[in-house]
Amino acid sequence: MVAHWLYEEWGRRREGNSYEGTCQRLAAAAAMDGLPMYLLAIEGEVVVGCAALKVREMEIYPEREHWLGSVYVTPGWRGHGIASRLVQAVVAASLRLGVSVLTLQTERPDGGLYAKLGWRPVERVWFHGTEVTVMERYLRKPAEPGASPNGGPAKPFGNSDISGGPPSVS
Ligand SMILES: CC(C)(COP(=O)(O)OP(=O)(O)OC[C@H]1O[C@@H](n2cnc3c(N)ncnc32)[C@H](O)[C@@H]1OP(=O)(O)O)[C@@H](O)C(=O)NCCC(=O)NCCS
Repeated sequence: MVAHWLYEEWGRRREGNSYEGTCQRLAAAAAMDGLPMYLLAIEGEVVVGCAALKVREMEIYPEREHWLGSVYVTPGWRGHGIASRLVQAVVAASLRLGVSVLTLQTERPDGGLYAKLGWRPVERVWFHGTEVTVMERYLRKPAEPGASPNGGPAKPFGNSDISGGPPSVS
């Protein structure tokens, strides 16, 4: 089901990509520790959404290692804060892994839900034929102005907004 969502939403547009390839990548991710890591939102026994912590999603930013991606909620469940909780759960998982800064891409010029969750716009770029807003969120303070996106020191900003998702996000 998740492979179907991701392929239909994004994968179909990528040259050389296939549904079978998407299934294989997800199966490989599920079978190993480490990244990419997919989190699922579950209502009852139904998977209703997903989000991922990935590595170098946009090759035009080789210096940006960790990415939030594959944020998807099935149409009937949208507008109930599920994506927001998934994003917060990925942020919490990233903190546990010692990630300093996360980056994402969204087609929404205003940043949509990410802007509301404290993500900062970096720039708007064309990527594989689509114009996207690249956004970042520091999980730890940058060492100094102009520090590398992954070079923050150990102290987090605080935990008030990163307590993670509810039990239904796993
Ligand atoms: C975007 C999406 C994940 C939101 O899921 P959701 O559970 O309804 O999200 P929440 O309830 O937490 O938040 C809703 C907000 O998301 C915003 N939103 C919708 N599409 C968005 C997008 N592509 N990027 C950022 N925010 C988006 C909505 O404007 C809404 O804001 P509002 O409350 O001010 O109207 C869902 O609409 C979806 O799966 N869309 C298709 C895949 C997609 O575009 N994913 C985002 C990739 S960056």
